[in-house]
Amino acid sequence: MKDRVLNVLSHYMSRLHADMALRRAVAKVGIDSRLEDHRMYPQLAAALETSLRLFTSESLIDTAVGELREVLTPDEPSSVKVELRSEADMSLARQAARTLAEKMGARSFETQKFTTVVSELARNIVQYAKHGEIEITPLSDGMRGLRVRAVDQGPGIKNLQEILDGRYKSKTGLGKGIMGVRKMMDRFDIASDDQGTRIEVEMHL
Ligand SMILES: Nc1ncnc2c1ncn2[C@@H]1O[C@H](COP(=O)(O)OP(=O)(O)O)[C@@H](O)[C@H]1O
Ligand SMILES: [Mg+2]
Repeated sequence: MKDRVLNVLSHYMSRLHADMALRRAVAKVGIDSRLEDHRMYPQLAAALETSLRLFTSESLIDTAVGELREVLTPDEPSSVKVELRSEADMSLARQAARTLAEKMGARSFETQKFTTVVSELARNIVQYAKHGEIEITPLSDGMRGLRVRAVDQGPGIKNLQEILDGRYKSKTGLGKGIMGVRKMMDRFDIASDDQGTRIEVEMHL
């Protein structure tokens, strides 16, 4: 995204000025320097417009501002589904979690927490159910946040009550397994029987 913005700017000013203008606008609106947070795009466009006006002749300014706004249209992040069978799929789920959290403007510790949660759920599916899927959905109307649905048709969690009572200690989880997931998230629902397991969690931003 950074390159696309710089591209537009350098049609109207030198590359050096474009770099400076972008750096100044980034600092002014407080967006992360990789421009991951799409919600900040309108403010960023507005801040850059000021610089564009300094460098662009009257006759070109509308075109210039139009191009800039077009590039900086916030795209509504859409939900992502990852099928899980292997370690490689776990990485994909982790990556998808990170990308979506960043697009939703999660802070870095929130992104870290969310990525850990998705990792734990993905690991459990691959480890204990062999196969399943995780769907990550951005929440934006009313409540801003991220939802995860982790579903499998595995054998189910035999000792679920023991786990939820805190009597089970996770051996493999970095985020301390299911209880860690429950602690880290703002909403936690679990249903498990011999037909499989379904976990739904939300992190609110
Ligand atoms: N999706 C799942 N399907 C079947 N069993 C599961 C699933 N997830 C977790 N379990 C069972 O619940 C236990 C606790 O999981 P967890 O809290 O993640 O700790 P850990 O994976 O470190 O044992 C696991 O040891 C496993 O027996
Ligand atoms: Mg686990």
